[in-house]
This record gives sequence, C-alpha cells and structure tokens, in this order.
Amino acid sequence: MPMKEIVIKYQELNHKDASSEDKLLMKSALNIANSAYSPYSKFQVGVALLLSNTKIIVGNNQENASFPCGICAERVALGSARSNYPNIIIKKIVITAFSENFEMDNPVGPCGLCRQVILEHEEAQKDNIEILLFNQIKMIKIAKAKDLLPLHFNEIRLKK
Ligand code: THU
Repeated sequence: MPMKEIVIKYQELNHKDASSEDKLLMKSALNIANSAYSPYSKFQVGVALLLSNTKIIVGNNQENASFPCGICAERVALGSARSNYPNIIIKKIVITAFSENFEMDNPVGPCGLCRQVILEHEEAQKDNIEILLFNQIKMIKIAKAKDLLPLHFNEIRLKK
C-alpha cells in the first residue's frame, strides 16, 4: 500500500522582521503571560488575538488544584473573544510561553485540544486565522489553523 505524506507549511522569522502590528500583539501576549495563574506547572502561556474590528483580546492559562479543571491560554482568549464580540472575525492568534524552571529553544505550539478549538472558530467564521508562535529567539508563522490539524474532526462528521 502506498504511503501518503502530509506536509505542514510554516515560516520561521526573526523578531526584526516582525510588522508593527505583530510587535504590538507579541507585546500583549508576553504581558498577559506574565500574569498567568499557573502555580502547579509554573508554565506561563500568553495569547493575543487580533479581531477584524482591530480590538486585541488577551488570555493566559488558568490552573486549578484539580488539574483537569485548568484551561489553556488559547481557550481563555477565544472564549473571551466570542463572548464579547460574537460576530467578529478573528484574524490572528499570537502565542508565547515560558517557564520559570527552564529555557526553551523553540516557540511553543498550541496543544491538541486548542488546535481543535482554533480550527472550529476558523471554520465557523469562514476566514483563516493566522497563527504566530514566538519566544525571545524565534517566530513561527502558520497561515491557518487547518494547517496545524491534518485529518481533523469537524461538525460535518456529526451529520449523516
Ligand atoms: N498550556 C496552555 O495554556 N496552552 C497550550 O497550548 C499548552 C499548555 C498550559 C496548560 C497548563 O496550565 C500549562 O500550560 C502546562 O501544561
């Protein structure tokens, strides 16, 4: 049986190549990561969303002593955006993370659950959500959420 291959396209950029819009979003994500509530993992994640009405919505991870009750920064920000601006398009999601215990060479990508949630926002709004991951060293740009979740599940699967 022939093997098939799935290619994920992304761009690696330097901070100096960031647009002024991206710089502002990155600053917002880093700022909110600093106030993450993560006393258990000591891992701080910050997210900034750019909406089509130019608003920036931020979120960070919120942990709980009952660990599964915790929520990732991406879903905090996406939930806030849809609550406050239900019909506004999300253009970009900018994500950063750091730990007080170790250094990270590469930017952190969203977990599988969050990829699914970002994707469903993208499909519902029928417009791509650009994903930008960054740390102090690198930036990674992915053109749309769909690129991060090949062979994904979606609402079409719930219908016959
Ligand atoms: N976390 C996020 O906020 N986003 C992700 O995409 C991955 C993980 C949080 C959850 C938890 O509070 C901590 O990082 C360690 O997993």
